[in-house]
Amino acid sequence: MKSFDLVIIGGGPGGYSSAIAAAKRGLKVALFEKEKLGGTCLNVGCIPTKYLLDKAALIEKIRSLTQSGIFREAGSFSFRKIQAEKNEVVNKLVNGVSFLLNKCGVTVVQGEAQLIGPRRAICNGEEYKADNVIIATGSVPFRIPIPGSEFSLDSTDVLALEKLPAKMVVIGGGVIGLEMASAYRSFGTEVTVIELLDPLIPAEQPEAARLLTSMLKKRGINIRTGSKVERIEKNPQGFIVYSGKDGKTFEDCADVVLMAVGRKANLSGINVEKIGLKLSPKGFIEVNSKQQTNLDHVYAIGDAAGGYQLAHVAYAEGETAVSNILGNEREIDLSAVPRCIYTIPGFAAVGITAQQAQKNGIETVLGSFNYSGNGMALAEGASGTVYVIMEKESKRTVGVQIVGEGASELISFATLAVAEKLTLSEWETLIVAHPSLSEMIREAALDSFERAIHKI
Ligand code: NAI
Repeated sequence: MKSFDLVIIGGGPGGYSSAIAAAKRGLKVALFEKEKLGGTCLNVGCIPTKYLLDKAALIEKIRSLTQSGIFREAGSFSFRKIQAEKNEVVNKLVNGVSFLLNKCGVTVVQGEAQLIGPRRAICNGEEYKADNVIIATGSVPFRIPIPGSEFSLDSTDVLALEKLPAKMVVIGGGVIGLEMASAYRSFGTEVTVIELLDPLIPAEQPEAARLLTSMLKKRGINIRTGSKVERIEKNPQGFIVYSGKDGKTFEDCADVVLMAVGRKANLSGINVEKIGLKLSPKGFIEVNSKQQTNLDHVYAIGDAAGGYQLAHVAYAEGETAVSNILGNEREIDLSAVPRCIYTIPGFAAVGITAQQAQKNGIETVLGSFNYSGNGMALAEGASGTVYVIMEKESKRTVGVQIVGEGASELISFATLAVAEKLTLSEWETLIVAHPSLSEMIREAALDSFERAIHKI
């Protein structure tokens, strides 16, 4: 039997970063991965999607420069080449993770680990004993059980399409649905998004959610909210998706149907009942703020532990678990988690909305600043709006929402402001580079108290 200080099951962002953090602090670590290092994020999630979206945004830019007469013609592009290059970027990153793990002395075991006790695992016929275990097995797509659901593809399939579909129906207007809709729409596919709830992204600031919806519609994406998908039928031309809204039935034709209605915990190999691991009512591994499960020395992080299903949260949870394993007590702080949707244009938010503040009995004021008043945005041809939510009494920053180009980069600056609860007077004395899109965050914060400079 092989013995380790720490055994980690799953080599996605949460698992591999925990392995590196623990090894750098002197622990003897084994990491089990049944597929490819990097997990969903690197292989079939964030990174390949962002590669597609980057090219899609470039195509949009070229189209707009052609419309304005700066480019004489838009030219054409090769979807096949985009897909091939995307795979190269993914491979480069996966090899990078493997290199880091090896250099840090982590034992990487290729194969599916089975937990046979809280701190005992078997993989490829060998038994492993660990002082501590981190479960980082991630998540898998969830499918709604409607007739014909087997005809739908998941995000992994849609990322790997070899041919551009003429028509795509996206079931679920959440993060994956909107990002895929954006990419494929820009590549020229006719896209219809069918979303159960009304409006889109209902947990975000309504002004920002409305603006994003209208900008996506302007790009030509058909969005039908408050619609329930009933069934998918196959016909010689492709598929028909039947959905209902306000008593009416809609029929949408497609050659590709993407189902993106959420992801559930991947617990394969964990033997939940056998080891006595407690799950939440939604089927995720229950953890406390130190990422500890109900079993001593067993931690869970990332998508498998529920909550935010975001790689950067998995990183933070992994580092929290490692700290606690090392005896340095640490609790996870999720009060300033950036939430990005890499649509075209992008969306990013951090902190709370005015509505959430009101529920907690906090009165807020909402400031905003439109991209049209910012020099850099005009120079770059970018459009959108920044919203800043400030506590009325303390004049502290509690939330930021951005719709527009650069949102996912701008949000880091905003995250610091929310984490540090920046006050109005601190915003007033802060000097932000000019020209830059970042100036809009300061202006929107000042606008909360009607002190923005470039706004009446
Ligand atoms: P999601 O929870 O973001 O969105 C699913 C959507 O499907 C919801 O809006 C829901 O109301 C809708 N829905 C559910 N049942 C439906 C039905 N029967 N008909 C129509 N609509 C229905 O889940 P998604 O998009 O699958 O993403 C999974 C996870 O991956 C998310 O938690 C997300 O945070 C994460 N992710 C994050 C990314 C990022 O940070 N940019 C990118 C991609 C995924």
